[in-house]
Amino acid sequence: MIDKFLADEWHIVEEGFAPETNRFSESIFSLGNEHMGLRGFFEEGYSGDSLQGTYLAGIYYPDKTRVGWWKNGYPEFFAKVVNSTNWIGIDVETEHKKLDLAKCKVKDFKRVLNMKEGKLTRSFVWVESDGKETSFVIERFLSMAENSIACISMTAVPLNYSGTFSFLPYLDGDVSNEDSNYGEKFWEEVNRGMNARHAFLTMKTKKTGFLVTTAMHAKLLVDGKEIEPAKELLARDKYVGYKMEYYVEKGSEIQIQKFVSVCTSRDHEEHVLETVTVDKLVSAYCSGFENLFEAHKREMEKKWEDSDVVIEGDVKAQQGIRYNIFQLHQTYTGKDPRLNIGPKGFTGEKYGGSTYWDTEAFCFPFYLYTDQQVAKNLLYYRYLHLERAKENAAKLGFKGALYPMVTMDGQECHNEWEITFEEIHRNAAISYAIYHYTHYTGDHSYLYEYGIEVLVEISRFWADRVNYHPRKDQYMILGVTGPNEYENNVNNNWYTNTMASWNLGYALVSLDDIKKKDEKRYREVIAKLRLTQDETSKWQDIIRKMYYPYVEELGIFEQNDGYMDKEQILVKDLPQEVLPLNKHWSWDRILRSCFIKQADTLQAIYFFPTRYDVECVKRNFDFYEPRTVHESSLSPSIYSIVASRIGYKEKAYELYLRTARLDLDDYNDDADDGVHLTSMAGTWASIVQGFAGMDVKDDALVLRPSVPDQWEGYAFKITFRGRHFKIEVRKGQVTIGQLSGEDVVVEVFDKQYTSKAGNSIAIAC
Ligand code: BGC
Repeated sequence: MIDKFLADEWHIVEEGFAPETNRFSESIFSLGNEHMGLRGFFEEGYSGDSLQGTYLAGIYYPDKTRVGWWKNGYPEFFAKVVNSTNWIGIDVETEHKKLDLAKCKVKDFKRVLNMKEGKLTRSFVWVESDGKETSFVIERFLSMAENSIACISMTAVPLNYSGTFSFLPYLDGDVSNEDSNYGEKFWEEVNRGMNARHAFLTMKTKKTGFLVTTAMHAKLLVDGKEIEPAKELLARDKYVGYKMEYYVEKGSEIQIQKFVSVCTSRDHEEHVLETVTVDKLVSAYCSGFENLFEAHKREMEKKWEDSDVVIEGDVKAQQGIRYNIFQLHQTYTGKDPRLNIGPKGFTGEKYGGSTYWDTEAFCFPFYLYTDQQVAKNLLYYRYLHLERAKENAAKLGFKGALYPMVTMDGQECHNEWEITFEEIHRNAAISYAIYHYTHYTGDHSYLYEYGIEVLVEISRFWADRVNYHPRKDQYMILGVTGPNEYENNVNNNWYTNTMASWNLGYALVSLDDIKKKDEKRYREVIAKLRLTQDETSKWQDIIRKMYYPYVEELGIFEQNDGYMDKEQILVKDLPQEVLPLNKHWSWDRILRSCFIKQADTLQAIYFFPTRYDVECVKRNFDFYEPRTVHESSLSPSIYSIVASRIGYKEKAYELYLRTARLDLDDYNDDADDGVHLTSMAGTWASIVQGFAGMDVKDDALVLRPSVPDQWEGYAFKITFRGRHFKIEVRKGQVTIGQLSGEDVVVEVFDKQYTSKAGNSIAIAC
């Protein structure tokens, strides 16, 4: 655990330069705007430990798979978001000495991430060996208003001398992925060009052939006035830059503003790509830094207006939730249904920037409750990949569709047998998101038009993957890995069996529903999918006869067959030094232990809030939580929500803190390779679904709010069936303010109220 940042409601502030935790800080200070993003590495050259990652959404490379022992069914490649042209680079020299924070004395180092405005500022004083001191203030932002544009400003003041300054702004396409399997470089240069005003570089990914043009324009100002310095053009393979030199008097301010535009062939025809990129650059340059920043800030304000969560009485918790919301907006805004949410967003290379079940199982509520269209785009993304999911199932010898564990374009990328072949529960999360969307919004259009095909194909997979056990006359699902990846190749993971059977049931109910409401579409679906009565009868049989492991004497669901045969130890009885287990124990020891990586049985209990009675949930929670090490970032939020539902306030809060500040405090000692983006949405859900107890019953919005003892109160906004709400929860009172839309029923602690636009209902609780 690290305690590095000052507590502040809207800022992440780091004081003092600590090279040993620089990678961690680089992750935390990452910025993005859905189209592109980068880690918080430095503009000037830095020879110390650093992961200089600049990424572009949807630009990937199929890196040839590397495994110790090949298994049939492994994918040929792992698609990775490619580290792309470094566009922030500005080398700095004074009197021929090069600024490099790894090699000089640094004073007053400070990094500030302004989350409200989406701007990163770094300041420090460079102390040279001969005593010369120069102060620096460097700002950067990636425009949320025009997402191909980014701006950097670097201001230097020679504090105790006058001298010649050189700035070397550049674009460097000679970059590689640290996680490249064979040390291969993924880019080749296509074109470069420069004149006295601007420069551009066009690079192409090998194999996938994505073209990316990056263009820059830099201007120099001394004491606020633009000057025309001597400019030397620098160009070599995969690199363009300028050297701009100027003599500066002691105490004067020299500033370089660098404007950047980045466009890709995903969005523009190849033959116009360079023209479009340069045009956007010129227009950005003409607008100027301040105007571009104002437009960006306005977009940020809109984001916060709809999604901010205000916490009173706990600055660290407030900072935590805002950081999570901030990073979610930086990564995915839902404008482009071809994109999705990688577990590390733009903050690192781990997980390759690909899509996991995280999207549907953990991120979905955040988008669904704040912007229905974004949630629909996320569903549509999977529909676009349905044919690939069918190919994936066929490749493994099954009918129907098996969505990949990890994907960029619908094809499976993952190559660990216990996950690729066995973590099949991921399929059900995709169906669950369809259900969740339809149930929450009351909008059946996605289900009828697209979702039903996904549900049927996934059901076909389940029906083929189950094993019928004639002696017991039951269906079983053998050889799986549940969400708890600390146990593999188990039989009858309760979560997987429960979700599979639910999935079949939901497909059947949905088919019936379409038949009743849209007979024509029903016939179309049956014909298109060639769905037979035999198939649906088998689904019913599976639902009736599914086997669920159960521990009679404890009255709990058994995580999987054989779980209770393990030696039962609690996490609290482990010596602190062995945690996290994945860093201290051999894999073999972990697999044989009873310790659980993340919510597994509790994941299904979370998905179905009204299916199990409170006593049953308590028994399962009391048994499984003390055995859970929460070594997946996705775990604490789920447990926190369930704890809130059963009135375990203290526990809910403890787990909330763990999820909200997971990265800022580096709980799992692993944020150096990127923050845990997908778990950040779970943090938001811990407040809205957890503390506020939000759900939907028929057409009513349901709340069962409580306030953690450590807080005075909290407030958030949601969208529900075309209406906007502001919900404020304080100790003893909840206020439901309806901002727009028609009247609707709101249920608070089982009592119903009619809510109207423009009115607030205050209810004692
Ligand atoms: C978790 C998975 C998750 C993946 C990506 C793993 O550590 O166990 O459930 O999908 O990380 O976030």
